[in-house]
Amino acid sequence: MFFMLSLFRKIFFLRQAIINPTYFVKKIKFEINNLIAKKKYKKELFIEKQNYLYEQNNLNRNSAIKIFFDLSNKYEFLKSTSSSEHQILLSAISEKQNIKSILEIGTYDATNSFLISKLFPNSNIDTIDLPDDDEIFKNSYGRENIKKLNKLIDTRNNILKKNTSINFSQRNSVSLTAEKKKYDLIWIDGAHGYPVVTIDIINSLKLINSHGVILCDDVWIDKPLVQDEMYNSLASYETLQQLKTNNLINFSLFYKRLDMKNNSYKYKRKYIAFVKKNYE
Ligand SMILES: C[S@@+](CC[C@H](N)C(=O)[O-])C[C@H]1O[C@@H](n2cnc3c(N)ncnc32)[C@H](O)[C@@H]1O
Repeated sequence: MFFMLSLFRKIFFLRQAIINPTYFVKKIKFEINNLIAKKKYKKELFIEKQNYLYEQNNLNRNSAIKIFFDLSNKYEFLKSTSSSEHQILLSAISEKQNIKSILEIGTYDATNSFLISKLFPNSNIDTIDLPDDDEIFKNSYGRENIKKLNKLIDTRNNILKKNTSINFSQRNSVSLTAEKKKYDLIWIDGAHGYPVVTIDIINSLKLINSHGVILCDDVWIDKPLVQDEMYNSLASYETLQQLKTNNLINFSLFYKRLDMKNNSYKYKRKYIAFVKKNYE
């Protein structure tokens, strides 16, 4: 079995090298540099930097870790998601800000919507995702696999049933352009590339209350190996930078993950942007 797997892998690599030699060379270089970065990684330095970023934004990472730890002990399924720092960041915000209305762009399996509903129990939460029969919905996040698609829809619907403060609607986030409602917190986590994430950021600036916070997930600041419209792109960063240069916003970038595998090599590293607008 192991022999067969390794043979398939060799054939796959050989095929790649023939079909797209430029990409193949880039990929090899990427993997070597990734390996070197992993060896040199000092997680404690990044934890220190992350703690400092929290302090600068008047947030407390240590007590936020405790809040999330307690919640995930109570609701085990919260643990099953990745070790993304967005859970800690949201927990930290829940301690400090008076938040009454929240918008989440990108519901996925609704685990995060549930977390938000527990962190902000006095809040009204709108969460949106594409309709289940939308081609982009069906062809992203592994949902091409019908079993996976149905499982995700079931999980999402079951989680949503548990909580009445969450209003789920199936629509493309671009339609928020015609929305008038205001929010105190917006979590942008739909499509991560051009043009949609740029539209999401601009719309969020219009929909956020003047003292509100916009969080933008999966921000790349160094060009990823492959860029696309859904997962990996410089779009969020370039849009935020442009807005900052024009003095419309300020933002900080928190590390999305702190583990060696995801955070050691800068071309694999992602951030969460914490955005505040500079105008009423
Ligand atoms: C990364 S997942 C969201 C994860 C979730 N917010 C969390 O924190 O765990 C991204 C979701 O955004 C949805 N999405 C992508 N493009 C969208 C769009 N234009 N409008 C609404 N949802 C979109 C995808 O279908 C997917 O379910």
